[in-house]
Amino acid sequence: MTNRRNLKSRKIDFFNAIAFVALFAAGAITAGAQTADEAWLNDSTRHFPMCIPRPVRSLGEGAVEQSAIQELKRNIDHCPSVDPLGGETVVGTAEEVRTAYPDVPVPTDLGPGSYWIYWNGSHTSSLLVIAGGDERGALYGAFNLLRLSTSGPLPVPPLFYVRFQYHPLRSEPAMPIRWVDEWDNANGTVERGYGGPSIFFENGHVRDDLSAMGEYARLLASVGINGCNVNNVNGAAPFLTPEMIQGLKRIADAMRPWGVRLAISVDIASPQKIGGLKTFDPLDPAVQAWWAAKVDEIYAQIPDFAGFTVKADSEGQAGPASYGRSPADAANLLAHPLEPHGGVVLYRAFVYNNHLDYNDLKADRARAAYDIFRPLDGKFAANVIVQIKYGPIDFQAREPVSPLFAALEKTSSAMELQITQEYTGQQRHLVYLAPMWEQILDFDLRAPNRATPVKEIIAGKSFKQPLGGMVGVSCVGRDGWLGSPLAMANLYAFGRLAWDPNLPAEQIAQEWARQTIGTDPKVVATVTKMLMQSWPAYVDYTGPLGTQTLTDITGSHYGPNIESSERNGWGQWHRDDAKGIGMDRSVATGTGFAGQYPPAVAKMYESPATTPDNLLLFFHHVPYTWKLHSGETVIQYFYDSHYRGADEAAQLVAEWKTVKAMVDPKLYNDVLGRLIYQAGHAIVWRDAIVQYFLKESGIPDAKGRAGHYPGRMEAEDARLSGYKVVDVTPWEDASGGKAVTCDAGSAPKGCSAEWTYSGPAGHVDIAVQYFDLQPGIAHFTLDVDGIPSASWIAFAKLPSRQPNGDNSTRFTTPGVELKPGDVLRVEGTPDANDPAALDYIEIAPAATPRR
Ligand code: GCU
Repeated sequence: MTNRRNLKSRKIDFFNAIAFVALFAAGAITAGAQTADEAWLNDSTRHFPMCIPRPVRSLGEGAVEQSAIQELKRNIDHCPSVDPLGGETVVGTAEEVRTAYPDVPVPTDLGPGSYWIYWNGSHTSSLLVIAGGDERGALYGAFNLLRLSTSGPLPVPPLFYVRFQYHPLRSEPAMPIRWVDEWDNANGTVERGYGGPSIFFENGHVRDDLSAMGEYARLLASVGINGCNVNNVNGAAPFLTPEMIQGLKRIADAMRPWGVRLAISVDIASPQKIGGLKTFDPLDPAVQAWWAAKVDEIYAQIPDFAGFTVKADSEGQAGPASYGRSPADAANLLAHPLEPHGGVVLYRAFVYNNHLDYNDLKADRARAAYDIFRPLDGKFAANVIVQIKYGPIDFQAREPVSPLFAALEKTSSAMELQITQEYTGQQRHLVYLAPMWEQILDFDLRAPNRATPVKEIIAGKSFKQPLGGMVGVSCVGRDGWLGSPLAMANLYAFGRLAWDPNLPAEQIAQEWARQTIGTDPKVVATVTKMLMQSWPAYVDYTGPLGTQTLTDITGSHYGPNIESSERNGWGQWHRDDAKGIGMDRSVATGTGFAGQYPPAVAKMYESPATTPDNLLLFFHHVPYTWKLHSGETVIQYFYDSHYRGADEAAQLVAEWKTVKAMVDPKLYNDVLGRLIYQAGHAIVWRDAIVQYFLKESGIPDAKGRAGHYPGRMEAEDARLSGYKVVDVTPWEDASGGKAVTCDAGSAPKGCSAEWTYSGPAGHVDIAVQYFDLQPGIAHFTLDVDGIPSASWIAFAKLPSRQPNGDNSTRFTTPGVELKPGDVLRVEGTPDANDPAALDYIEIAPAATPRR
């Protein structure tokens, strides 16, 4: 053992610790005023300011136009003080432009939200015009101009906008509803929020300080989002009290300058819960009068109120079914009083029975939305939009498109996506969702036997519906919005796709990277590559072949827990047994779900021979030995995809390291810590699923990996002092199903586990797999032959209070010299409910060569 080895180990240990501090103290990083500039409106990456003609002025007085001016002025602050061409830039509605400049050929048909950018110049003066179909359009035009300025170096600034003389830039939103939904509770918590406490609410009230919220609206406007529903779809009744409506008015006032309209979720039982009525029956005249008065009360405070979102008869939320009424009855009850004010109802199709009978092979949660809503087509008021989750289950890492999109021809529909990564790594994993959304938007449902891609249905084009759009469940908070810098690409992508669903996910990733991380081409290329790899990798290491996510569906929705989906009423079943896996949803022998699609798609999903491999197990129950189109068996694909996915997660770390010198050091360390964590957790996922299916199927991995872990030494096999061996639940979440825990009561000074190394001498990395439980901060050290090599603390905020796959975490000490006979010793000191639990240590040849 040399000093050199120790020095090296300590250095790396320090580095890792920094990364961990960055990861789990993300809140601290963004403490203080939270601004949109911390996201993609990042002035520091705007190396190529759009040096537009100055002065910059608005033609109207409206607040939204003033916001546009404010944004343009921020940008020209970065320009040289001498204006190359002189002249001016004007911002206004098309009508204002026509009045002020009759010679400017502003189009007569610019719709709401649309914009037109034009330049007119001579040798002596120049005029740059940003005209909007309305004030919002003018604001979107200004933001778009600024976005263009980040798309590359501008050799001679005027050339950039001079082209607008011959090619005015015109753009319009693809769909009218472009909303984010927040699931904030009045007490300041955010359901499925991974970015800290609410920016809207605190202690039962609207927060006094709404500055972060104003910045959020600015961020939303910059990508064309025009509505924000601020409260949770669950437990919404308290949001209709007079006191709360006063508070909501303040939120609406802060959003208004950014063209973002306020919406709220309502509880259909409110007339009874807060209104003192004995009933909430939608057909009861007293109930109708109550809602009409409530709507008037809201509009008296918030004249541009956007409308209501409703979750009813679902997961414990009351609904019209209590009175034998339909969702159309409930939706119309709200729609009628909203209609004269221009408000809408987004009625969620997420209505299902969560007490299904697992033993009934015909029972199928996936069927519910279509079965309930299809018969109601044509019965909804014109200002009702049915809000449909993209898949028939619930925001899984991969699902087929919901067949309901094709089944509502006389009703406007919107697609609900999840920006917050509930089932996709909870922002601790990098998972850029736009490639998934792109596949969903492009999916052609062929209803009826003609091209009807989802993106055209929700834009109202396929069935000529007046409304429709996209709703992204965002759940931002006070810790850097989404709590993780790279996760912001999802919020950005959502807005861009709602504006134009034809934009490629990769182009959006490039745009975002350039605006947020840096303009160096290598940075843009690397970050784009990482983003694009991340969703396929996540599907690979969680739930491939259409098994959804294989996570703990009754608890955290985070770590692996394969059987949690089975034998309960929730209906997220994949029905695995010793012989095979998958839900038979065919018409011929299964639940009939495949038959809910229009004929061409139904035919494709009806047979395993024509179902794409990536959804096979969603539609069919097949033996593990079933041969995929790729030629692999299902079980071998499971093994391969999980090993591939974990390797891809490790690759993200390596790729990020290549841009170290080119990105902000604080950001670099923060992201690095997260990616290192993700790579470790991908191994947890890999091993859990692989060992589960190895045992279940009894079929070995043809490549010999499953069940064989070279270099791994189990904690339960170590020489233990103080540590006790425990069974982990579910068993697949720990290597060999067991861990060791240190009980603070019987071993207050800590416990230790020792192994004697018997492998070849060499330069190795030592990974310690431990369980990081809340709320305590356990402490660990690694000694090699009596010499301290690493120490770290377990202070992550991970789900679950028991050691399992939610909190299994890997700490790697790289570059250690080992020889046979060396004793490896891990000491764990427990702290408040964190028993410093250990799973194993693993020794692998060092990833980086000796320096
Ligand atoms: C998921 C999620 C819930 C949420 C529900 C919904 O089931 O876990 O937190 O309330 O979706 O969309 O209503």
